Formats: sequence, C-alpha cells, structure tokens
Amino acid sequence: MRLDILTLFPEMFAPVFSHSIMGRAIERNLVDIRTRNFRDYAHDRHRTVDDYPYGGGSGMVLKPEPLFEAVEAVLAEWPAGTSMGGAMRRKIVLLTPQGRRFTQEIARDLASLDHLVMVCGRYEGVDERVREHLATDEISIGDYVLSGGELPAMVVAEAVVRLLPGVLGSAESAEDDSFSAGLLQFPQYTRPPDFRGWRVPDILLSGNHEEIARWRHGQALSRTVSKRPDLLPEDALSKREAGPANTIVASDAKEG
Ligand code: ADE
Repeated sequence: MRLDILTLFPEMFAPVFSHSIMGRAIERNLVDIRTRNFRDYAHDRHRTVDDYPYGGGSGMVLKPEPLFEAVEAVLAEWPAGTSMGGAMRRKIVLLTPQGRRFTQEIARDLASLDHLVMVCGRYEGVDERVREHLATDEISIGDYVLSGGELPAMVVAEAVVRLLPGVLGSAESAEDDSFSAGLLQFPQYTRPPDFRGWRVPDILLSGNHEEIARWRHGQALSRTVSKRPDLLPEDALSKREAGPANTIVASDAKEG
C-alpha cells in the first residue's frame, strides 16, 4: 500500500512512524508512506495557505489551491490503473471532526486500498470545495476538536498499517484484537500466576484449549455488555433484553 499524507507539519510524523510495528512495516517495504507539505504548493512568495472567511467570522480557512495542487501532484506520481492486480483502489481522506467516526471496520476497508491519501486540515476550517470536489471521504477520530488533522492521520495510519498482510506476526495476530469480532478483547494474563495474591484464573492454566476458548468468548461478551453495549449486534441486544446480562453471557458462551 502507498500512503500519502498532506500536512503543514510533515516533521511531526517521522518520530511516530519510526518505531514499533509501524517502523518495522516501513522498513520491510510493506507500506510506502510519504509526507508532503502542501505549503510547497502555495502561489505567493509568502507561501500563504490560509485566508479570511468570506462572510466574516473568526479564524482562518485553508485555501483550496495548495490542497488541490498537492493532491494532484501525488496523483500524477501514481496515476490510476498502475496497480498490479487491476484497477487501482484509492481514497482521498480529509481528517476533520465533521467526518464519519473512525472504526475498526473503516480501518479494514482502508487497508484493502492500493493508495490512501490523507489530507490534514488545520486552523478553523478548510474551504468547502476541498470537501466537495477533492476528498472522497471525511473521517473524524472522535467527537472532540483537535488543532489539526495530524494526530488523527497518525491514528488512522497505525490502525490501517497493522492490518496489512505480513505486518503483524502470528504472535501479534489482529484476530484477537478488541473489535475484530465486534467485541472487546477478553482479559489477558502472563506470568507470574500469583501476583500479590491476585491469581490468574485457573481455566487459563488448565491446558484445555477448548474450554479456554469458550471462557474467553464469554468474557469478551460480558465485557462488551457491561462496558460497550453499543457495539453489540442487534440480535445480541434483544437476547440481553430478555434477561439479566450474565445469564445471556453464560448461554452465549456455551454456543460460542
Ligand atoms: N481535526 C480536528 N479534530 C479532529 C478529529 N476529532 N478527527 C479528525 N480530524 C480532526
């Protein structure tokens, strides 16, 4: 996958992308990440990227020309149709609090692309023509306002890159992650088996893999019911309404 990030602060990204799983993925060429400063596409000698809003009001608005031209320069480097497997799948995502709220499902969708272009907004806003005629998608990482799209772009990049084929080893498989099966992750323990009197549940020391899988599924389900019921599928909710949560969890656990 190729990932282009358009930002006024490209230097923010290197420290984050050079570590851990992300750093390893880049080093192994599993993802090609490029950052580009859209100020380089400004038209005047002051390299102006923002201007006053028409109609008045506080704050500045990012001008359309540098953003359009920066994206067009990226697209010219990698024109549509150059993907090995046929038609290239590409999205141009604007990071903005007005976007669709980012989820694991969106991360999976983005991970299936050949080319992801992320545009980091700044200041109070972005000229509406960028939204309407340049971005193919708008993503928010949550219902709060940050000063710009850089941290959200890092969040989206990390969530997407770890899903790319070959990025996670089998020991780190994404299958056990929270959300991957629509549920929160089950509780995890490591040695020692007794820490300050708090013992690891016996079932995990039993060696009975079938029982352990059943216990984990039950735990994932009951955690989701108590902490994030909004994640549960419709049918799980109607079962939950039929009786106390732990009754359903126990019966679901047996089915699972
Ligand atoms: N830019 C500012 N706040 C944001 C948010 N919550 N998500 C995405 N982009 C943003």
